[in-house]
Amino acid sequence: MPRKSNKHKTDLNSVHDFRHTEARRKNNPPAGFAPTFEDRKRQTTRYDYDPHLDPQLQWAGKAEHTSFEVDVVSLHIHERISTRAILEAAKRPEPQPALFGETSLSADQQIEFYKHEVGWANRLILGDSLLVMNSLLVKEGMAGKVQMIYIDPPYGIKYASNFQPRIDRRDVKDKDEDLTHEPEQIKAYRDTWTLGIHSYLTYLRDRLLLAPELLTESGSIFVQINDENLHLVRCLLDEVFGRENFVSVISFVKTSGKGGALLDVVNDFLLWYAKDKTQVKYRQLFLEKELGEEGAKGYQHVQLPDGVRRRLTSSEFESPTGLPEGVRVFKADNMTSQSGGESTRFPVELEGSAFTPAKNYWKTNQEGMERLRQAERLFAAGNTLSYVRFLDEIPTRPLTNIWTDTSIAGYGDPKVYAVQTNTKVVERCILMTTDPGDLVFDPTCGSGTTAWCAEKWGRRWITCDTSRVALAIARQRLMTAKFDYYELREPGRGPAGGFNYETVPHVTLESIAKNTEIDAIAARYQPQIEQALAELNAALKGKPIRIRIAEGGRAGQVVDFSAPDTETVPLPSGQVVKVNELLEWEVPQEVPHPAWPKEARQAYWCLLELKWSGKLDTEKEAEPLLETVYRLTGHRWENLDKVPDPIPPEDWPDAAKDALRRFWELKRKKRQEIDESIQRNAPQEVLYDRPKIVRGLVRVSGPFTVEAIPVPVVEDPTQEPIPQFEAEGAQIRVNDRGGDYLTTMIALLKQQGGVLFPGGKKLELTNIRLLNLGYLHAEAEAKQDGGVLRVAISFGPQHGPVIAHQVQEAIPTAKMNGYQVLIFAGFAFDPEAQALIQKAPVAGLHVHFANIAPDVLVGDLLKTTRASQIFTVFGQPDVRVEEQKDGTYRVELRGVDIYDPLTGEVQSMQGKDVAAWFLDTDYDGKTFHICQAFFPGDPDAWEKLQRALKAQIAPEVFEQMRSTVSFPFKPGKHQRIAVKVIDFRGNEVVRVVNLQTGGTPYAHS
Ligand SMILES: C[S@@+](CC[C@H](N)C(=O)[O-])C[C@H]1O[C@@H](n2cnc3c(N)ncnc32)[C@H](O)[C@@H]1O
Repeated sequence: MPRKSNKHKTDLNSVHDFRHTEARRKNNPPAGFAPTFEDRKRQTTRYDYDPHLDPQLQWAGKAEHTSFEVDVVSLHIHERISTRAILEAAKRPEPQPALFGETSLSADQQIEFYKHEVGWANRLILGDSLLVMNSLLVKEGMAGKVQMIYIDPPYGIKYASNFQPRIDRRDVKDKDEDLTHEPEQIKAYRDTWTLGIHSYLTYLRDRLLLAPELLTESGSIFVQINDENLHLVRCLLDEVFGRENFVSVISFVKTSGKGGALLDVVNDFLLWYAKDKTQVKYRQLFLEKELGEEGAKGYQHVQLPDGVRRRLTSSEFESPTGLPEGVRVFKADNMTSQSGGESTRFPVELEGSAFTPAKNYWKTNQEGMERLRQAERLFAAGNTLSYVRFLDEIPTRPLTNIWTDTSIAGYGDPKVYAVQTNTKVVERCILMTTDPGDLVFDPTCGSGTTAWCAEKWGRRWITCDTSRVALAIARQRLMTAKFDYYELREPGRGPAGGFNYETVPHVTLESIAKNTEIDAIAARYQPQIEQALAELNAALKGKPIRIRIAEGGRAGQVVDFSAPDTETVPLPSGQVVKVNELLEWEVPQEVPHPAWPKEARQAYWCLLELKWSGKLDTEKEAEPLLETVYRLTGHRWENLDKVPDPIPPEDWPDAAKDALRRFWELKRKKRQEIDESIQRNAPQEVLYDRPKIVRGLVRVSGPFTVEAIPVPVVEDPTQEPIPQFEAEGAQIRVNDRGGDYLTTMIALLKQQGGVLFPGGKKLELTNIRLLNLGYLHAEAEAKQDGGVLRVAISFGPQHGPVIAHQVQEAIPTAKMNGYQVLIFAGFAFDPEAQALIQKAPVAGLHVHFANIAPDVLVGDLLKTTRASQIFTVFGQPDVRVEEQKDGTYRVELRGVDIYDPLTGEVQSMQGKDVAAWFLDTDYDGKTFHICQAFFPGDPDAWEKLQRALKAQIAPEVFEQMRSTVSFPFKPGKHQRIAVKVIDFRGNEVVRVVNLQTGGTPYAHS
């Protein structure tokens, strides 16, 4: 075994996960324990439809389907995963059981399944959604415990387009090799599509019927659907949830147009229903406003950092992101309202003009109007008085039911699954309808988008899928995910105590009009401002100075300081003012402004020099200077002619210059204080999608379990007499297509004449015949070394894997009845079934696992059936365990023989070709704890975490996590390890190795 250097400093103090310390779940059975201790009596739950609903959709089979029964199954825990434990294993060899978050129960309690409350772990479940939902309800008492359900069912009715055959293939097309051959998927497909849309509606309605039972009173469900079936699914939801609980149809963009012959479809839909609309939990989300876009139209002006206001230029409007810093965009918003009373109808004087609300009313009373004036929020344009609404004071707009920013694209949301939903879509649903710590359920896991989003936002999650490929993708996605660490409001409670969120002010006209702080600020500054203005006028009086007025009622006229005091002029407001005095709004702004950065002031003086130089062709020289002034001040002067002369001019008396400076300084301070007060007193909007982030911490997924439904096994098909209840059950268990499943299997075995072993060798079977012996369904003879061996065959179920229970029951029966060979023939195998015989090999009995080519199940779905090799035995992982000098161990994965369902052949794979392999360094025989995880077939698997942890974890560590050699580990109390290998089709094989036997691998196949 190659020895790798392990000299790295690994500091994981900054790696955390969220733990849901307050939440509880039931102790459902660990997969390795269940075969011995679980009561396997069949039980079902009956669900009834209310036939008296009005009006409703009809389809073939609906009238007959007035009720249905669902098996009450257990959910067996196969794996426990903790990313922190995996990272920790790279750092030190000691086992880290605490990181898996498992509650320890006494020996008695451990086998009293579903009787005890244990600590929460999120859940990834292999199994049909209906069975999973029913199990959660009946076995775990989870009625009313789920806050939100997200369902993204298969959209279309094409077999291929719904199911992804390989972990590493996303381009699923309608070709045979693109079809999944998982037995559960074939069943799910048949259940869903036998009668096309008719069976689809039955399938979906059954699942929807169970959904409200799971939901809390304030819960919500989202069903993702395309335009083809939107109307039909809405009818189903109306039926199940009630029309009155319909909340919204959300349209979200998923692709860009493809240039089809007719109108391109670029969106999908979400149907949102509440369990009870009057109680639904709802958190308003906001989008950032973008100038000119939805919610930010009509913004045409800017206020520059020095207080000057001007119109946006057309180029600024077209690319608002290039606006200089500190420039505030505002809109002249309507000040009038159609309703009001006497207190809101009065004349308003502003800058020498008078305004009335015409037939309407003002949006505020006289007191409020005065505060708006003091806050410089009134704006006169022609005959209209407007309110100055800054974009940054309401920077957000409420999210509506049209989502245009959700197409899957770009770096942020890499596509790992053929039918993957954009995370933004699911995140929004989670954020709108749940709080941290709430439980989210997705019965159509796919690549685990809902689980990933729930994990990201500190929600608890449960998700299921019938596909191993989907589950393998979701597991890897979650195991290798990296998130921000959000600030917890009550750290002791975990996410359930809530996050601290960013907020934004939501400044409204009303919030300013009612802000009494403004009165005090104005009362402090206004007398001083008026004093400064009076001093300015007095210092200029009698001087031959004329100022052209730009703003207000006197715009275009001239203030002439040499005019006599008696000379007056009326303003449009009726007010009569002196010709030789500036009014407050007429005082010219300083140029260059003292608040401009030094570089801008220097550029201004250079521009003036150029302007006054009388030189020709100054354009080229002026351009960069004009740009500098724009970039730093927001003043956009098109050319040298537009560069204003300095204010105050050189020839003003010092007293006037001083008064002008003071005047503007006081105005600036007053504006600043009022603006601060406005921000402080404005209502705040909580940004639920922006919890405060704790910098420097990396968060990984919290502990989760991988679970599966043990499918009913084929047991004693011919046993007589079968009681009435059992007969019904047995019929379903043996074959849900008519009772000849075993006969077919035996015929196929006869046709092949035996089973194939790796390397093309065949175990010839003669005299194959039906058997009636517990889980042994057939027997035969085989020749070996001149002798004859007695062979028993145990068939797995038609729509599921061979599980540990079957193996455990069949072995003693075979042994007691004198068989020398026992063959388990199935479409898939639970790793625990394989682990069982490796844990405790049986002397004198050779046990083999033979895969049955699933083509015999999917035959009619395929264009061609290729399975000439129907029963094929596959090998175990070839692992080498080596004890090191320091007493630690290392494991090397050298290869594995895996059955390929497409060719029916066993493929020998090198360790480096497997998709993933996991190591449980202290296998307890119950559940596989993933202590170390390696992705030789996917070099990018750890990439995100590697990038986030580059300061804490050396690159060699991650390099090793892509290799076939484990990190060193110390043996645990069970002195036994387990290695699990996952191929690209999601198949799993397990090898258990006892460390006490010196690491020698078992010779079982
Ligand atoms: C459209 S995909 C969901 C994709 C998912 N939203 C994502 O982002 O990856 C539908 C999934 O439902 C699964 N499925 C179909 N029938 C099912 C059933 N009866 N029970 C559980 N899962 C099922 C399919 O295997 C498939 O992965």
